[in-house]
Amino acid sequence: MDRVKVGIIGAGYIGGVHASVLARDERVIVSAVHDVERERAERLARSSGATVSDDAEHLIGNVDAVYITTPNTKHSELALAAITAGRHVFCEKPMATSPENARALLDRASASSRVFQVGHNRRFAPVYATLKQMIVATKPHSAHVKMNRGELINPPWVADPEITGGFLYETTIHMFDMLRFLFGDVKQMDAVASVHEYPELDDFSALITFNSGMHATLASSADAGWLFPFERVEVFCHHRTLTTREMESIAVSDGLDGRHTTTSMQQLPKEEKWGYVQEDRAFVDAIVEGGPPAVTALDGFRAVELVDACYRSVKTGERVHFTAG
Ligand SMILES: NC(=O)c1ccc[n+]([C@@H]2O[C@H](COP(=O)([O-])OP(=O)(O)OC[C@H]3O[C@@H](n4cnc5c(N)ncnc54)[C@H](O)[C@@H]3O)[C@@H](O)[C@H]2O)c1
Repeated sequence: MDRVKVGIIGAGYIGGVHASVLARDERVIVSAVHDVERERAERLARSSGATVSDDAEHLIGNVDAVYITTPNTKHSELALAAITAGRHVFCEKPMATSPENARALLDRASASSRVFQVGHNRRFAPVYATLKQMIVATKPHSAHVKMNRGELINPPWVADPEITGGFLYETTIHMFDMLRFLFGDVKQMDAVASVHEYPELDDFSALITFNSGMHATLASSADAGWLFPFERVEVFCHHRTLTTREMESIAVSDGLDGRHTTTSMQQLPKEEKWGYVQEDRAFVDAIVEGGPPAVTALDGFRAVELVDACYRSVKTGERVHFTAG
């Protein structure tokens, strides 16, 4: 079979990560790169053995699969163009920065026979894959998740809601997806937040109830400083607690004697520890072997819907209820 020709739109940090992972997959060839800053495209094209496309349309017309790795508010339009043109699409998170755009993309992806995968990489990170297995084998009562950023300085566009869609769309959306991945669909959410040094809503506290009856709290600050771990999940079961530290380790205490065991993923290369290798492999598997993507357009849509609900609850002061569909 011919190698899958991949094009990358957005030659920044994460575009480079995917290019280097894909370069090690012999089923794939990274054949084209496009970036609004041509120098960036040239640099990535040189290191990947690809050619530079002057515009996104040209790239989409000349590859089998497209990676969308631009800043957030540029995702949905480019992804829509690529899936409409009959390409397989890997769209970085967030799939869109409004439920309307996410819905339009979901509808188009659902009507297409091509693979559409969303970049919720944490599902593949060994820490979270292990946590998920442990949760399936136990009965969680409640949970707490937090995801903090240290600042909104680097890269510079993270401070601009016109480009991020809002802080929650940039970073915390990972944790909204993680909550669904671990505990299923959400029934209702209440949230509060406040504005501090950055001119947008920050320091979110949310109370979330799932269709299963499970409930969880989520805390997320954009400017907490880089105190490790920036993200953590704590799951509380009967005489059992499971806690993660970033994607570095998972600790489990069983029983009441206070002892715990820690499994460390620290020695893994970052691309594997963060699930990038596994998510790219899953995307190529779905293209080559057929079959559904590991993170679907519906998963991407639901994550956007949760972020939007959190903002709505903060702004209206009211509880948001979810209905299926
Ligand atoms: N899943 C993850 O763990 C993860 C990690 C990092 C970034 N991301 C996501 O990936 C995306 C990119 O983040 P990054 O850190 O690589 O940012 P970056 O600033 O390093 O790179 C973005 C690139 O896109 C280019 N660009 C901007 N608008 C464009 C357009 N319209 N067409 C083509 N190119 C355009 C920029 O010039 C830049 O080179 C963001 O949506 C971010 O949320 C995900």
